[in-house]
Amino acid sequence: MTAGPAATAVPDPPLHDVADLGLAAQGGHHVEWASLRMPVLAAVRARFSAERPLAGVRVGACLHVTAETANLLRTLTAGGADVAVCASNPLSTNDDVAAALVAVDGVATFARRGEAPAVYESHLDAVLDHRPALTIDDGCDLVARLHLERPQQAAEVLGGTEDTTTGALRLRAIAASGSLRYPVVAVSGAETRRLADNRYGTGQSTMDGIMRATNVLIAGTTVVVAGYGNCGRGIAERARGLGAIVIVTETDPLRALEAVLDGYRVMPMSEAVREGRVFVTATGNRDVIRREHFVEMRDGAILANAGNFDAEIDVGALAELATTSTRQVRPMVDEFVITDEQAGARRLLLLAEGRLVNLAAAEGHPPEVMDLSFAVQALACEWLVRHHAELEPLLHDVPEEIDTAVAAMKLATIGVAVDELSAAQQAYLASWTGS
Ligand code: NAI
Repeated sequence: MTAGPAATAVPDPPLHDVADLGLAAQGGHHVEWASLRMPVLAAVRARFSAERPLAGVRVGACLHVTAETANLLRTLTAGGADVAVCASNPLSTNDDVAAALVAVDGVATFARRGEAPAVYESHLDAVLDHRPALTIDDGCDLVARLHLERPQQAAEVLGGTEDTTTGALRLRAIAASGSLRYPVVAVSGAETRRLADNRYGTGQSTMDGIMRATNVLIAGTTVVVAGYGNCGRGIAERARGLGAIVIVTETDPLRALEAVLDGYRVMPMSEAVREGRVFVTATGNRDVIRREHFVEMRDGAILANAGNFDAEIDVGALAELATTSTRQVRPMVDEFVITDEQAGARRLLLLAEGRLVNLAAAEGHPPEVMDLSFAVQALACEWLVRHHAELEPLLHDVPEEIDTAVAAMKLATIGVAVDELSAAQQAYLASWTGS
């Protein structure tokens, strides 16, 4: 880690480990471009600048280091926070944005695109060394490390937020074991988030990642979507919109029924593998596509994951099955050749090493989507600072008033007005007699 020189706008750059501080100007342009399309966060930032609700609060964040995230961190800084950030995924870091965070915003940043696992872990430690009073996590790696390796430091933390469904599951497990040491707000559960981020953001950017990586024509192609949760719904909808024949696989009968009623074919993965050309996992689960599935796939099958961790496609089993050495056939596309006597040699194409395809091969969610999620994040941080003393060390839902406020701000920024309930209507809705 260095407190290096280079082209900086802040007089005294904070501790950092980024690829190249010389990229700061370019990163700054990207952050500004995203900012133009993040008006809700801008409104929160303007209020935070005036009211300074996070004055003196040290924040430790583990997030995808993107231009949108930089806008969130700017907002927290405007509110008075002292922020350190590391990458939540080694492949999603924008090196130029990381440089801008250090040089322009004075945020202690530890993130290099493609960083090795040991570096990733050292970056988590660097953020924990910042002694955060608030944690902002994306997948629970930061919080898990704090609880496992520095339990005594948890007493310094007022609260935290978690950005993803998978992270919320891990936190629920920590809380269920009685080990969670401070309250955490599950931002992934916010209504605005579920709608805009998981469904529309993941839907669009996942298809974008697959198309950028492969240039495959989606129209007329059979796309198999594993998991019909918020993300899977969005991916299936966008794939269909591009002309794909969509098959959904599920384990939950209710979700499977919903997919059927939405007009998709639903079947087990063991059957879908024979028809699919493109496979996308979005379950939050592991081994969703595994050895028994790979051996049934057609030549040229494309495998992508949109779930938070790279466990959804069993890449280890795929590598074991490969009969020739694996080669990269395009950026973000690795070819595995598997051979058997009946079907001969077949090429299976794994995108982005089985990691989040929308972040690794495309640019993640568009700023308009992250605008809502990150406005919720910023307001949840403010809420935690105000209310942490009243909260149990459990996983908490985003307060409804934050969700409603963010939706209202978004509508205001796009000039959409809604009807208001009259007093008589409110009374009618609250009355059990129907009068
Ligand atoms: P969700 O819980 O709403 O949906 C997951 C669905 O997968 C459930 O319906 C579940 O029944 C199903 N499922 C579980 N195991 C399965 C299996 N073996 N086969 C088929 N279906 C299975 O979760 P959500 O919000 O849709 O998130 C899914 C994943 O995507 C999580 O890992 C989440 O963290 C991640 N995520 C990724 C984003 C991105 O930018 N790529 C954005 C937001 C979330």
